[in-house]
Amino acid sequence: MPGGVKTDIRTYQLYINGEWVPSQSNKTLAVYDPASEEVIAQVPDANGEDVNRAVAAAKAAFEDGPWSATTAQERGRVLFRLAEKIRQNAAMLAELESRNSGKPIVEAEFDIADVATCFEYYGGLATKILGYVNPVPDNAVSLTLKEPVGVAGQIIPWNYPLLMAAWKLAPALAAGCTCVLKPAEQTPLTVLEMANWLTDVGLPAGVVNFVTGLGESCGAPLVTHPDVNKIAFTGSAAVGKVIVKQAADTVKRVTLELGGKSPNIFFADADFEAAIDGALFGVFINQGEVCSAGSRILVQKSIYQNFVDAMVEKSKKIKLGAPLDRDTKMGPLVSQDQYDRVRSYQEIGKKEAKLATGGGRAEKFAKGYYIEPTIFYDVSNSARIAREEIFGPVATVIPFDDERDAVKIANDSPYGLAAAVWTRDIFKAFRAVKALRAGIVWVNHMQPTYVEAPWGGYKQSGFGRELGPGGIEEYLETKQVHINLNEQPIGWY
Ligand code: NAI
Ligand code: MG
Repeated sequence: MPGGVKTDIRTYQLYINGEWVPSQSNKTLAVYDPASEEVIAQVPDANGEDVNRAVAAAKAAFEDGPWSATTAQERGRVLFRLAEKIRQNAAMLAELESRNSGKPIVEAEFDIADVATCFEYYGGLATKILGYVNPVPDNAVSLTLKEPVGVAGQIIPWNYPLLMAAWKLAPALAAGCTCVLKPAEQTPLTVLEMANWLTDVGLPAGVVNFVTGLGESCGAPLVTHPDVNKIAFTGSAAVGKVIVKQAADTVKRVTLELGGKSPNIFFADADFEAAIDGALFGVFINQGEVCSAGSRILVQKSIYQNFVDAMVEKSKKIKLGAPLDRDTKMGPLVSQDQYDRVRSYQEIGKKEAKLATGGGRAEKFAKGYYIEPTIFYDVSNSARIAREEIFGPVATVIPFDDERDAVKIANDSPYGLAAAVWTRDIFKAFRAVKALRAGIVWVNHMQPTYVEAPWGGYKQSGFGRELGPGGIEEYLETKQVHINLNEQPIGWY
């Protein structure tokens, strides 16, 4: 704006027990537009006291509130109504998500549509939580009942803000849990907007609570709180490891999704055009800020040089631009911190491998955390840029000899979230599918994600699965019930 005049800066409070309340800290956090680097909102910098209040509300709603008395049908209908609200407000939410995170508006629109679908899917599943009759060898009925785990603490990242909230809230609510969710400090706005509809759709006070704050002062107290029964976390491996340790003292259930360094494997017989598209899409979608980014591009030696050349050529067509511009294919990174981190990996890469294209800031923008799509080639799989998650538009291309070699390199990583393999040979494809140690394997595609199918990683990419029917299991306890049908005394004494 001319003269440094700011557009309206929104101010939010915490959402606890069905009300907007101030933080006990009296401190706020600025929320930025990463394209203009301007502050667009202020949110509370919540502390442990605030977390205590939110957890108390969630606990009361779970133990004494009307939520525990609702039927599965009623919980399902609440989620359907929430999905409808999301759809009615999709344009507003997508615009806010795009402004706050920097992601292209067209991608934000897909995300918001997926948010609604996620609430619907778990709304439907609420009435399909089944128990069992166990065939025990006695005059008795043995039952297995599924019950909500209780208060769920949910900590989410900034790359898919409202979608990550939906992935966590939807199965938890369908299961009958109550929730305290902490959005990422960089991108809390769409989650806070959603709070405005929770009472309308029929959620009793305290069932869903939102606390905004930093990891150590707001996330950690949630992890250590004795009344929180489960933590669901998506974010960095470093924080995931801290969470496992911090959750130990109260023996919490924990699920983690910690990203990775996913291999995207191209055999010489793959359709070349589709392969180049798939390699670029796999790593540059959402500016590369994707947990399943195909950031290790493994290419068979006989097509290697042509492949690198074609990738470079086509990457020049990727349109960097304002997040709200409908032609934009890559916006700015989410924050100054993330920009600095990715820039430093670009410099590390220049020492470790050959630079094919990019390698710096996208200079045509006067402002904003824009990074050039960057491709390194002749990368050794032991290089830091091939082992560490960069979480930005930086691709590493690694040559391989044959099938065995490809699988060996692909699996040589501490991570195991996702992998993709491109070939026209179905036998080769299936051999690779079986050999790859990853929670998600795509054949001749990379990135499509469906609420109907499980999501999560092997190895240091985490444990537990979100989405699909199994996603709800992570919010359920298993109770074994034995009903004696024999009216006689046990007869032991
Ligand atoms: P982060 O892991 O620090 O942040 C994720 C969430 O965890 C945020 O809500 C944050 O406030 C919270 N958090 C941080 N420290 C915590 C603690 N001690 N206890 C409880 N909660 C805590 O990620 P950050 O620093 O934003 O990004 C750093 C790197 O992490 C990225 O470069 C990327 O490699 C990776 N990352 C991976 C994601 C994924 O989807 N797997 C998402 C975001 C980041
Ligand atoms: Mg961090």
